[in-house]
Amino acid sequence: LSLDVSRYTAQTNPTQWGHIVEDINHSVEGGLDANLVRNSTMKEGAADPPSSWSAVTGGGGTGSIALDTSVPLTAANPDALRLDVGQDGAGQRVGVANTGFYGVGVAADTTYTATFFARTARYTGPLRVSLEGADGTVYAAASTGATSGDWRQYTVNLSTGRRKPADTSNRVVISVPAGGSGASLWLDVVRVTPPTYGTSGELRSDLMQKLAATRPGFWRVPGGNYLEGQTLATRFDWKKTVGPYEDRPGHQNDAWGYWSTDQAGLRTYLDMAEQSGAEPLLALFAGYTLDGTTVPQDELQPYVQDALDEIQYAIGATDTPWGAQRAKDGHPAPYDVRYVEVGNEDFFDRTGSYDGYRFPMFYDAIKAAYPQLQVVATTPVTTRTPDVVDEHYYNNDPAAFTAMAHHYEGYSRSGPKVLVGEYAITNGTSGNPTGTLSGAIGEAGFMTGMLRNADVVMGASYAPALADVHDFQWPTNLVGFDAATSYGSPSYWVQQMFGANKGRYVLPASLTGTDPSLSVSATRGDDGTVYVHVVNPTTTAVTTQLRVAGASAISTSGTVSTLTGDPDARNSITAPNTVRPTAARSVTTGARFSRTFPASSVTVLTFSVS
Ligand code: AHR
Repeated sequence: LSLDVSRYTAQTNPTQWGHIVEDINHSVEGGLDANLVRNSTMKEGAADPPSSWSAVTGGGGTGSIALDTSVPLTAANPDALRLDVGQDGAGQRVGVANTGFYGVGVAADTTYTATFFARTARYTGPLRVSLEGADGTVYAAASTGATSGDWRQYTVNLSTGRRKPADTSNRVVISVPAGGSGASLWLDVVRVTPPTYGTSGELRSDLMQKLAATRPGFWRVPGGNYLEGQTLATRFDWKKTVGPYEDRPGHQNDAWGYWSTDQAGLRTYLDMAEQSGAEPLLALFAGYTLDGTTVPQDELQPYVQDALDEIQYAIGATDTPWGAQRAKDGHPAPYDVRYVEVGNEDFFDRTGSYDGYRFPMFYDAIKAAYPQLQVVATTPVTTRTPDVVDEHYYNNDPAAFTAMAHHYEGYSRSGPKVLVGEYAITNGTSGNPTGTLSGAIGEAGFMTGMLRNADVVMGASYAPALADVHDFQWPTNLVGFDAATSYGSPSYWVQQMFGANKGRYVLPASLTGTDPSLSVSATRGDDGTVYVHVVNPTTTAVTTQLRVAGASAISTSGTVSTLTGDPDARNSITAPNTVRPTAARSVTTGARFSRTFPASSVTVLTFSVS
């Protein structure tokens, strides 16, 4: 393995490795949105009584629940949950319970915040909010102030103690205390969250921590098919996702088959990127939906204006209308958006409208208003020259990705840059939404090629990022989670090995005398640290001499970390650490040293040069 540290062939990009987050597999609704309560606005499936909710009675008490639209909280949220208390039960409460997203995670020594709108009839007094086990064990409880006949928002903090439930079969309960016989209670926009990540107020900590630990440079948000929707009515209509939660109507996420409250709206998507130290790469709806609808040319202008308004929301000054709305939503500073993407996978539009008029109309308007922005096309176009073209690669054969380690070598250096906005092995299996080590090794081979060709590939994001292990629509994802915990797949660890070990300069590196399926990439940081990634997809360990040329001094020790194991092994929610990289350990380095790269492995080796 030869390395030359005296020169570089390309500079890596701040955006080299990133994430795409759209609402698929409950990535956001029930995932990154930390709200424990499912169907918090009572609209899911238009069910009566609202789904995920049930009446709670005890001691012979009676009560029933229903969907009630006769006392709207707001125009956007007219659907309320109504509890009619019959008899309170021998000194016990009557209430409603929510079973969350496939359970409710309750942690020890944690303070949860509950906020919701409520009104009552034939009862004025406090409501009791609690986190309870299926057996009725109360882990935390608190009472609101007195209710009245008017809608009011209530906020209480619920602190758990040392005891924590054994599983996620818990529920959130809101109840009318004893003495409420004959009362009615209406509830809407119910949120119960543990402490959240950063300052956004919505983001689930363990998921954000995992994604941030890969040191992403960008987040491509909000999709993906989710951006498009099946129809114009069900696209990501960003203006309906900002402002107070109670004024957001939500929408049927018919790209992936569940209700989205849009409580995690545009600001939250931008926050995800910013709060993990990355820049948002903002995907704009471009007049094409998954059912094949294309907005005609003479009707497209309002959608172009919508995209300009969206960019203004993200980066406009606070004296612009949408910049002011962003400030009202709690984020006065503009987000650091440098790239916007026009649409998603418009190669599926067979009418030619993308190249014909949709891309040009968006491109011209964006460049005129925001000349500093780089515009990404979702497929090659001829009518304009995009700054970047987005390419997507899915394959269930790891060897296909291994072979792509040289894919970008023949690309033009003078054309648009490439964003690999989605790629992943799709070798998932039923019951487990994450893939195998062999899949991750294939992806790692592809990543060495993308890194060696960083002058062409400005960024890449594995897709999808997140999946609820109880309800996923895509077979193979980066991180699996349930209501309580989460785990990284082997692919996740590969992302981290590359993301957290990246220098600024791409060094010439080559492997000779080894199986051609092995691949290598090397980068050097400004501080002289050299990062070498070696991917061995074969079933044989390979020992090779590393020869480092072009340095006046080379450290005599460095570090090595290796991801290896059974190529068919996966991680899971119950066995999260089956495949994990070894902790970095010290190794001897120098101008020449020998290293063995195990069968089925990804290795990151570091040392320093001057
Ligand atoms: O990543 C899953 C889906 O794959 C995306 O929503 C879409 O862009 C692609 O087809």
